[in-house]
Amino acid sequence: MTKVIGIDTGGTLTKIAHLDAQGELQYVSFPSNDLQAVREWILAQGDLDEIGVTGGRTEQLREALQDVKTIHYIVEFEATLKGVRYLLKQQGHQIDECIITNIGTGTSVHYMNGNHDVRVGGTGIGGGTLIGLSTLMTGITDFEEIRTLANVGKREHIDLLVEDIYQGMDTPIDGKLTASNFGKVGITEQGNQPVEDVLATIQGLVGEVITTFSIQYADEKKTEHIVYIGSTLSDNAHLERVIANYTRTKKHSPVFVGDHGFAGAVGALLNIVEHAIT
Ligand SMILES: Nc1ncnc2c1ncn2[C@@H]1O[C@H](COP(=O)(O)OP(=O)(O)OP(=O)(O)O)[C@@H](O)[C@H]1O
Ligand SMILES: [Mg+2]
Repeated sequence: MTKVIGIDTGGTLTKIAHLDAQGELQYVSFPSNDLQAVREWILAQGDLDEIGVTGGRTEQLREALQDVKTIHYIVEFEATLKGVRYLLKQQGHQIDECIITNIGTGTSVHYMNGNHDVRVGGTGIGGGTLIGLSTLMTGITDFEEIRTLANVGKREHIDLLVEDIYQGMDTPIDGKLTASNFGKVGITEQGNQPVEDVLATIQGLVGEVITTFSIQYADEKKTEHIVYIGSTLSDNAHLERVIANYTRTKKHSPVFVGDHGFAGAVGALLNIVEHAIT
């Protein structure tokens, strides 16, 4: 069997997809600012036939791997879509048409219809924003700590809901919707909030902006499903809840594929497998 791997070198994380002896997909990731560790991991794999690469930091990876192997480049969006199609199918989702929102360091939104796909937009609000705002507001920099604390935090003393504004009146829209992320703080002047509540609210902001954005494209394309991917969702139950609830409120169906952080790496891997076959 030929031994191949796919690597997606993103702004924050470098994701690797490879096949074990049984032909099952396996994953590993490294910080993109430690490409030496990626190099060592690759060298430890022994004899590789080919490496598929994608992602915005591919050039830095190429430099680190100069002497290593034949490298096949595939552009990021093509790799991502290839990987998403594969993962959807593998996990039993029969979705032919959808919006795909990739919450990486920043966020990229795509529209897929059968074999056709196009990048429809993006926003700078993403996983990098989550880490950046969390660091500035709470001093916590570690993703795992952020997602764990956010999961037990409450947003009710920081976010302003529609029903908080329309006191004692019927609300023109769902009263439980956020009227203003962080908006209650300025009104109540309660500046001191528990760290977990601040983190939950940051994550609420990031999740709601991204969902709002994705829904607009889903409405425009008249498509039901929105598939959310990217490592920002990794074991991140709170972010998933924020996104799923809001997407459903807006009458669309959220879809989360397992291994969602690795779609690009899977695409880069599939690209060389196909290349080897044809
Ligand atoms: N181990 C980790 N270390 C740092 N951030 C992590 C980790 N795991 C998940 N994350 C979150 O995932 C985000 C990165 O997601 P992802 O790997 O999909 O992006 P990327 O491919 O590096 O970036 P882009 O596609 O925008 O170039 C981080 O900003 C952070 O919020
Ligand atoms: Mg990426």
